[in-house]
Amino acid sequence: MLENKNFIDLNKVDKKTLRKIIELGKKLKSSRSEKDSNLLRNKTLAMIFEKPSTRTRVSFEVGMRQLGGDVVTLLNENIQSGRGETYADTARVLSRYVDALMVRTDDSNKLDELVSYSTVPVINGLTNSTHPCQIMADIMTFEEHRGSIKDKIIAWTGDGNNVANTLIQGAVQFDFILRLACPPELGPDKAILEWGNKHGGRIKLTTDPHQAVEDADCIITDTWVSMHNTEGERIKALTPYTVNKKLMSYASKDAIFMHCLPAHRGQEVEEDVIDGPQSVVWDEAENRLHVQKAILSWILQD
Ligand code: CP
Ligand code: NVA
Repeated sequence: MLENKNFIDLNKVDKKTLRKIIELGKKLKSSRSEKDSNLLRNKTLAMIFEKPSTRTRVSFEVGMRQLGGDVVTLLNENIQSGRGETYADTARVLSRYVDALMVRTDDSNKLDELVSYSTVPVINGLTNSTHPCQIMADIMTFEEHRGSIKDKIIAWTGDGNNVANTLIQGAVQFDFILRLACPPELGPDKAILEWGNKHGGRIKLTTDPHQAVEDADCIITDTWVSMHNTEGERIKALTPYTVNKKLMSYASKDAIFMHCLPAHRGQEVEEDVIDGPQSVVWDEAENRLHVQKAILSWILQD
């Protein structure tokens, strides 16, 4: 039996396939043909959300429909896994109804369980540790604005969270230079960083945002308080990492700014940056739709 084409993490899909997905995303964005609107006819995606979502939910729902497929959205509080049914059983049942699953969960073990017991492909719609669909959209967005991401300098400043972890995997798979500036106690996942370094990633971790953004082609940040965090001491530790006009001025003069959203103006980014001329956050949000249509096409077609 063929293995399912899961989309779990960027280090679990080969480089050639990832590149093909990005190119397909660009193509799907540039023209909406009659053929595309039948690509996933008779296919259904079920999505489980244990956490809130605006972009991921709407872009997957609309994306499936634009490709001629259907979608079922399951909120944790309304389904039996929300009151204890295992993901193993949930996967076995949902696999009998639908053609693919997507899950946004607080626990990577649950994602693994879903993958182990599902007989249909599974997509990671964010865990506490990674957010692969987001970084695919970020890479597509960068390339739309600045050409090939290979050998470009991408700088991250702020919390070393799930999005930062996935950027490390992206740096290896798409061969860009990545500099991360994080407070010492809020750095990225050590195992992911180790994987990145072991696989030839050009990745530099520093505590100094100025050092990270020097001559960068793109600056990226994210919320200081992810959905699985409590505020605690984080705000104090992260205050020096705000992306403001001064920090942007150390980057390359045509550097772009990205943020996966939702944003907190006045915390991780100042209003005049996110709403300023270098910001491409709305294209980035839009590209979630296009690149996910490409991911869906890859996992659901022979
Ligand atoms: N960026 C992102 O994943 O947004 P949502 O939480 O709204 O899905
Ligand atoms: N790091 C954020 C991303 C939200 C899309 C979180 O996990 O809440």
